[in-house]
Amino acid sequence: MSVPAVAAPLSSAARAQRLLRRSAAAWLACAALGQVLFALYVAVFYGRATLAGQPQRWNAVMPHGYQPGATAFNAVLAVHLLLAAAIVIAGLMQLLPPLRRAAPALHRWVGRGYVLAAALLALGGLSMVWIRGGAAGDTAQHLGTSLNALLVLWFAAAAWWQAWQGRIGAHRPWALRLFLAVSGVWFFRIGLMLWVVINQGPAGFDPDRFTGPALTTLAFAQTLLPLALLELYLRAQRQGTVWRAWLGSGLLGLAALLTLAGSVAAAALMWWPPLAS
Ligand code: HEM
Repeated sequence: MSVPAVAAPLSSAARAQRLLRRSAAAWLACAALGQVLFALYVAVFYGRATLAGQPQRWNAVMPHGYQPGATAFNAVLAVHLLLAAAIVIAGLMQLLPPLRRAAPALHRWVGRGYVLAAALLALGGLSMVWIRGGAAGDTAQHLGTSLNALLVLWFAAAAWWQAWQGRIGAHRPWALRLFLAVSGVWFFRIGLMLWVVINQGPAGFDPDRFTGPALTTLAFAQTLLPLALLELYLRAQRQGTVWRAWLGSGLLGLAALLTLAGSVAAAALMWWPPLAS
């Protein structure tokens, strides 16, 4: 008599790792939704104004963005906006395992473009903040965004170098750090809108001058908080400890909910109104 095969029960460590993977996938799904909405806003709002030959309409959302006569910096901003929409979509493509497996050459080419675009965004952003001037926010916020730019440059170089050397195991954490740092400006927007919704209005900052402790904190947290969570996730995966995996899963689950709520809030309050007007 043949005995039907019964799958061996998973150990608690394996169950914890499975939950960790699923929590990370849930966060990524929420982030993908929010990032696609952001990319759509950038492409439609700025694309429409540019194609109509009216770049001055960009200033409906960034008062000092387009400056008549400042040809070089207007070009820097135009490239910045074009790359912003493209890099968001490219980043999500790079993270899809089936696409990586099915088309490794595409992953390599998109990766090279991603690293180049990330460097141009960071350098263009730094030049607008410190040379052109007039960017929204105060010096403390500019320091937070500049830290983001420096980390983007560092992670882009490290992710590219490891891939170039063929060290895929070492490439992965740098590529994930790069993805999160590049997403910093998006984290800022969804974080801000979530904060406004929770407090039912601007709290801890002056909305007219766009300054205040809440914005300064967010300018640094946009980069440092997601990176801290990533390090915890990578450690939980590497070490396989059950409690670390549970902790990582819990935090990623919470992050998924906050990301979803922040994305919906940003889409409704920040990205949809300029498209509808
Ligand atoms: C790396 C990914 C980045 C993306 C995807 C991105 C995206 C954008 C977008 C969409 C805008 C238009 C504003 C809006 O409609 O919300 C913008 C403007 C701007 N960005 Fe970035 N950005 C990135 C990095 C940076 C960095 C690292 C800096 C600074 C160091 C920076 C500085 C600026 C400045 C100064 C503006 C013009 C805003 C103004 O003049 O008030 N960006 N960026």
